[in-house]
Amino acid sequence: MSQPQKGICAEPNLHAQFLHYNVIDEDEQAIRAKLARVLDIFDHFDNEHYEAMVSGVICIGSDYFSELYPGLRPIELSPFPDMQCDDRIAPSKTCDLLIQIRADRLDIVHAISMEVHELLHLHVELIDDIRGFRYLDGRDLTGFIDADDNPRGLDKKAVAVIGEEDPDFIGGCYVHTQKYLHDMRRWQLLSERRQEQVMGRTREHHLLSEEANANSHYIRSRVTDLSDSQGRQHLLRQSMPYANMSEQGLFFVSHCHSSQPFRTMLQSMIFGMQADEYDAFLDYTSAQTGGAYFAPSLDFIKLRAQS
Ligand code: HEM
Repeated sequence: MSQPQKGICAEPNLHAQFLHYNVIDEDEQAIRAKLARVLDIFDHFDNEHYEAMVSGVICIGSDYFSELYPGLRPIELSPFPDMQCDDRIAPSKTCDLLIQIRADRLDIVHAISMEVHELLHLHVELIDDIRGFRYLDGRDLTGFIDADDNPRGLDKKAVAVIGEEDPDFIGGCYVHTQKYLHDMRRWQLLSERRQEQVMGRTREHHLLSEEANANSHYIRSRVTDLSDSQGRQHLLRQSMPYANMSEQGLFFVSHCHSSQPFRTMLQSMIFGMQADEYDAFLDYTSAQTGGAYFAPSLDFIKLRAQS
């Protein structure tokens, strides 16, 4: 049985680090072997510090995948769907490798990141290094609870992990990321009522806003077929806020058994179904990057470490 990587369905953590790398040599054999050792690093810290709820996900960029693992390819693995309409842009900046590291202790996240970096550094260039954190009770920096409607329990695996539909990649997962930069000054100038209209949710109790309309972020998801007849989402969101004194935003991460739901939602946000029905939240935040990755099962990574 091909087990998914532990971080795919993990519960939200307090801290995270997202290491983005491009590979600078052609020693794929060494990279395959070292990625299996990254899994050992995750396990080691998880065993030593079980209270920190350590998890991680090794993600391979859509272009680099066939170089690293020539031969088979996940059926739906394709480049990031870069889109643009007026000033709403979803740029594509997929790296060769993305290592997601999550834990409830910042020191442990840092220690794992250092070991992973030390292991890989001869073969890679560090492109971006984003530190995520849990903000208040799971809110985005805009003040709204994010991912409250995520699938729960067993539904998580059904949504995020590939099953029999792609027999060579059972246990794998499609990962999409976008680094959103919020214009917090403009956002904070809005009244609470207008903010709730933009999001489509109430800030305090996280209910459907009475002011919600076709441009509300939440409604953009509802008008697509992103949930099943029981209202279960087809996308597991594992995003985290990031911030320093000059930049604040959300590092968006989705895990899914298919690459289609992310594409559909992004299209709904940027273009809408009809003219001017785009996601109004994009007037207050902008995507700086976009990545399409594949997170193979544990068995897939380990089996190919020797080849
Ligand atoms: C800065 C970026 C974003 C922020 C701050 C944000 C925030 C939110 C918030 C507050 C909600 C309301 C309810 C909930 O989370 O369950 C929501 C819903 C949702 N968001 Fe986002 N979001 C962002 C980007 C995205 C992107 C890029 C996608 C996918 C392409 C996405 C997909 C969804 C979906 C599918 C829902 C609906 C959940 C449902 O219908 O139950 N979001 N988002």
